[in-house]
This record gives sequence, C-alpha cells and structure tokens, in this order.
Amino acid sequence: MDATLDTAGKRKRLVIGNWKMHGNQAVNATLLDGLCAGIPAAGSCDVAVCVPFPYLGQAYAKLQGSGIGWGAQDVSRHEQGAFTGEVSAAMLADFGCGWVLVGHSERRSMHGESDELVAEKAVAALNAGLTPVVCVGETLAEQDAGQTADVIERQLAPVLALSAPLVARLVIAYEPVWAIGTGRSASPEQAQAVHGLIRSRVAKLGVPDLRILYGGSVKGSNAASLFAMPDIDGALVGGASLVAEEFLRIAAA
Ligand code: PGA
Repeated sequence: MDATLDTAGKRKRLVIGNWKMHGNQAVNATLLDGLCAGIPAAGSCDVAVCVPFPYLGQAYAKLQGSGIGWGAQDVSRHEQGAFTGEVSAAMLADFGCGWVLVGHSERRSMHGESDELVAEKAVAALNAGLTPVVCVGETLAEQDAGQTADVIERQLAPVLALSAPLVARLVIAYEPVWAIGTGRSASPEQAQAVHGLIRSRVAKLGVPDLRILYGGSVKGSNAASLFAMPDIDGALVGGASLVAEEFLRIAAA
C-alpha cells in the first residue's frame, strides 16, 4: 500500500515542523519529549520535525520508534566531495532522516537558490531515499501584481520536469512569503486557490495524490479551517513548531 494514503485510500495528513535556526540541546530535549508524549493524540496524521544539522543526532536518538519522523532544512545537490560546509543527502539518511526541505523561501532569498538548484537538491534527496518537501510561494509584491500562478508555475517547472514516478515521491509546500513568520496566514480560500492550481498541474502528470502542504503562520487556532480545504493536506509549521502543545494541536486538527 502507498504509505502516503490512509486505509480508506485518502491522502494522509502530514504536519512538518521547521525549527529554522532555533534550539539547543536542552531546549530540544524538552520539546522532543513533549512531542513524544503527546503524539498519540495526533491520530493517523504523519508528523515530522526538520531540525538544524547539529541536532540530527539528537532527533535520531530521541525519535526512533516514536512514530514522529525527522529531517533537515536543506541538503547539498552533490553526492560527496570537496564542498566545504555542505551536507549530503546520504549523510541525512545516515542519521535516519526521512524528510528534507528544499527551496524554502529563506534559502531562495538569502542564499540565491534558483529553481533549477532546488530541483537538483530534490533529486539528490530522492536518490538517497528521502522525501523532499519542495517549498514554493510568491512575495507580497508578486501577489499584488497578480503573478502568483506564474511564480508557482516557474518555481515548480524544473521539479515537475522530472519523471512522474519521481514527482510522485515529492511533497510540495505552498508558503506565500508574505505569510511566513508574519502572523498573517493566507485565508483557507486563498490557500486553496493555489493548492487547486498545483493539484491540477500535478494531476496532469498522472500524480493526483501528491501531498500539498500549506505553510505561513499556521497555528493551533487556524489549522482546522485550512485543513478543511480539499487540496490542503497538512502544514509546514515554523514558529508554532517550537512549542510542543501548539504543534500537537495543529497535528490533532
Ligand atoms: P511560520 O513559518 O509558521 O513561522 O510562518 C513557516 C515556514 O517558514 O516554514
């Protein structure tokens, strides 16, 4: 059976925490213990956390057998070699990672990551058996200019040019840049409009059940209304993933 579908054959919800550059060993231990204790309440939802590289070992040690997955926030497109400061997909797999974010807007804007590079990173992750979470989203200026659909299409083009079996192994996260860390989430209808576009685009490739997450100021209080939308399959959560009870509320929604 496809692990991304539930027993009824419906797309399984997925909630991923993106810790960004937060935490230390003591704080992480408390957070991870809190997640492990509360996870049964999340039901059949898939839950994972993407932690800073130095804490992958800690996530590995704490989360094994917990039902919570873990992963990283970036990966090199290279397999190995003289790439000082980079971390390969095989290294992530070595630490038990199941997931890795690629193309987060903070990497696109602060590190100049191109759409092509993001696709190469997704391929590197797939080759190591990881699930890449490909992040896309428009800026406020692009939204105001009515360019949202074009921006998403452009950002996704190199990944959707991969073969359908590879595309089927991706997760896509729609994260409007203006909603990230601002407290101003997209409305469920706004997010659904973009998710619907992405859904029809991937369905054309013969991949109707790809999981599409929404990200941008998701909290316990707005998760249920977002998840009620037909094409929102879960969330990529930044700030609210740093507080166990809040993150678990989202997973339980
Ligand atoms: P936020 O971040 O939930 O803090 O808005 C989301 C993200 O950047 O993945």
